[in-house]
Amino acid sequence: MTDENNRINEHGDRHDGTHVDQHASERTHEGRDEGRHMAEGRDMGDGKDDRRGMGEGGDLGEGRQDGKAGRGRDDGAGAGDARGSGTLVIAVVGGTGTVGRPVVEELAGRGHTVRVLSRRSATHPVDLSTGEGLEAALAGCDVVVDAANSVSPRTMRATLVDGTTRLIAAGRAAGVSHHVCVSIVGCDRVPMPYYKVKTAQEDAVTVGGVPWTIVRATQFHELFVGMFGAMARAGVVLAPRDLTFQPIAAAEAARAVADAAESAPRNGRIEVAGPERADLRTLARVWRDTTSRRVLLVPAPLPGPIGRTIRAGHLTSAHPDARGTTTFTQWLTERARGA
Ligand SMILES: NC(=O)c1ccc[n+]([C@@H]2O[C@H](COP(=O)([O-])OP(=O)(O)OC[C@H]3O[C@@H](n4cnc5c(N)ncnc54)[C@H](OP(=O)(O)O)[C@@H]3O)[C@@H](O)[C@H]2O)c1
Repeated sequence: MTDENNRINEHGDRHDGTHVDQHASERTHEGRDEGRHMAEGRDMGDGKDDRRGMGEGGDLGEGRQDGKAGRGRDDGAGAGDARGSGTLVIAVVGGTGTVGRPVVEELAGRGHTVRVLSRRSATHPVDLSTGEGLEAALAGCDVVVDAANSVSPRTMRATLVDGTTRLIAAGRAAGVSHHVCVSIVGCDRVPMPYYKVKTAQEDAVTVGGVPWTIVRATQFHELFVGMFGAMARAGVVLAPRDLTFQPIAAAEAARAVADAAESAPRNGRIEVAGPERADLRTLARVWRDTTSRRVLLVPAPLPGPIGRTIRAGHLTSAHPDARGTTTFTQWLTERARGA
């Protein structure tokens, strides 16, 4: 389904001359309330509930099917101050990625019209590293969520920093009123090259000229699984015992991102973190036991300022604005059960 389809509904006229899916508008309230539960630090669940209306790599707009009433956004309110009362057109850049996909599902489940932007998007192909496709993809959007990523030293700056500048400029030209950027708790405190790029990306957001919110998340459970799995191919997992993390399920981080996208811009940062702190060796052991992998865990130390800052807990958040509830062990166990 395309967002244009979504707009073609009777009584769906909006103050800005476009249309919204009135049924989606009516379904919005309850979804937003659920989001608030999470923002208040209440049960975030496991993110596996099925409120999906996902199209084939394209736009989503079919939200809840329960017909719960809410107010539509055809009330003349600006996107910057009226997210408590209606549906929005939201572009999720990187909407096919680890956190982008559940952000898309979450927002569509709450009744918003969601566009999936990425290089391989079937409906809204864009490339942040060149700016290609952005103008067309952002036309008519209220909010942009940037959940794109690049970890290659060759492309990360062009994608995350220069790409952010391009994305915000295109958003400004399209009248986007809120730019939400997914970032990392403590990226400015741990001197890894990738984190320096993330910090520069945050700087680009703050000077971009579109009201903004940066949602800093801790490392995703999915990241550790990928990392351990990659090392395990060599039969060995390097896991220093004193590196401290606070991992969160991407689906739970996605709820905080969706809440931010629905709220007024903070022009500030919020943090979302996992339920507990754990050292890397413990995480590796849990992963090995849960997956029954036969690998050797090697407690190789990580020297220098990177190791020191991670040991000091700079990638964790003692008082996050939102906290996940699913521990790494629970998440792995549920995953192993196919839940
Ligand atoms: N992974 C973690 O543990 C973690 C923790 C905290 C915060 N974060 C942050 O969350 C964000 C998303 O990370 P992730 O791990 O979810 O990423 P990911 O799984 O690697 O997904 C990356 C997404 O970006 C798209 N993309 C890549 N290059 C692009 C380009 N040049 N133009 C447009 N789209 C592009 C990809 O789709 P195509 O390939 O189709 O373009 C994909 O949808 C990042 O900002 C990251 O720093 C990640």
